[in-house]
Amino acid sequence: MTYKVCITGASSGIGEALAYYYAQKSADLTLIARNTERLNQVKSHCEKLGATVTTALIDIRDHQQLNDFLVHNDQQKPIDLIIANAGPSLKQLSNETADYYSAQRAMVDIHINGTFNSIYPLIQRMQQRQSGQIAIMSSMNAKIFLPGRSIYGAVKAALLHFSLALRQQLRNDHIKVNVICPGWVKTPRTDLNQFSMPFKVTAVTAAKTIGKGLNKNKAVIQFPWQLTTVIRLYNILPLTIQEWVSHTLYFAKSKDND
Ligand SMILES: NC(=O)c1ccc[n+]([C@@H]2O[C@H](COP(=O)([O-])OP(=O)(O)OC[C@H]3O[C@@H](n4cnc5c(N)ncnc54)[C@H](OP(=O)(O)O)[C@@H]3O)[C@@H](O)[C@H]2O)c1
Repeated sequence: MTYKVCITGASSGIGEALAYYYAQKSADLTLIARNTERLNQVKSHCEKLGATVTTALIDIRDHQQLNDFLVHNDQQKPIDLIIANAGPSLKQLSNETADYYSAQRAMVDIHINGTFNSIYPLIQRMQQRQSGQIAIMSSMNAKIFLPGRSIYGAVKAALLHFSLALRQQLRNDHIKVNVICPGWVKTPRTDLNQFSMPFKVTAVTAAKTIGKGLNKNKAVIQFPWQLTTVIRLYNILPLTIQEWVSHTLYFAKSKDND
């Protein structure tokens, strides 16, 4: 039977690259985002690659609409893998919101509640069939304290913690849970950044690494290895030295918000 994958935030960047990655494997895809034109472009490219595609234009903050859609979609054919990927940067949100604090609230709402809204309608259904896989998009930023990244780092750290606990919680139900912690990936979101992004990878590389990590059921899928090593070293430093490193090496160079 064809593997069925649902991806939120599939109209751009990493979500789009993941859609193409699974389309090449002839998966049955359900793609969710808000932008009609971009989502339709991704859909037709996936179809050319051999996938069957269903799209839904939903803001993942809309709990009821997302719940109704996911339950209906899962009833038609069970979803094997849900990738809760959607989420903007603070800079992207500041174009949509009235002020900085509204953007921060929207950040929490989309990344945290939006992720819950994307997975909870499916958990009980996966428990009933004792199979399924849930992938949650965090970030390498979850593991480092950076000025200008306080709210983004906080939501991603919450998702990292949540995912690892959920992985244990759902283990006996044979549901796999994986959390994804990329470093910088070239996407429309990072194209807005005006600072250097060491070890940045393409979205295609990111999608391949994520796909392989999910296939191996890795608890944490983190990349690239160079940044992973730097963050590991940072994490064993005493807090005062971490603060010095964050402030001196990062904030001194950029006051940009992501
Ligand atoms: N790029 C990086 O360096 C990087 C690094 C670590 C983690 N991440 C994480 O990876 C994920 C994807 O980032 P990206 O770089 O691929 O960004 P992107 O190119 O801006 O894509 C973001 C996607 O999220 C969707 N989205 C945003 N708000 C939404 C909402 N309220 N409801 C439904 N969909 C929404 C967007 O679609 P619409 O606008 O069509 O709704 C778009 O498809 C994010 O969670 C991000 O935090 C990215």
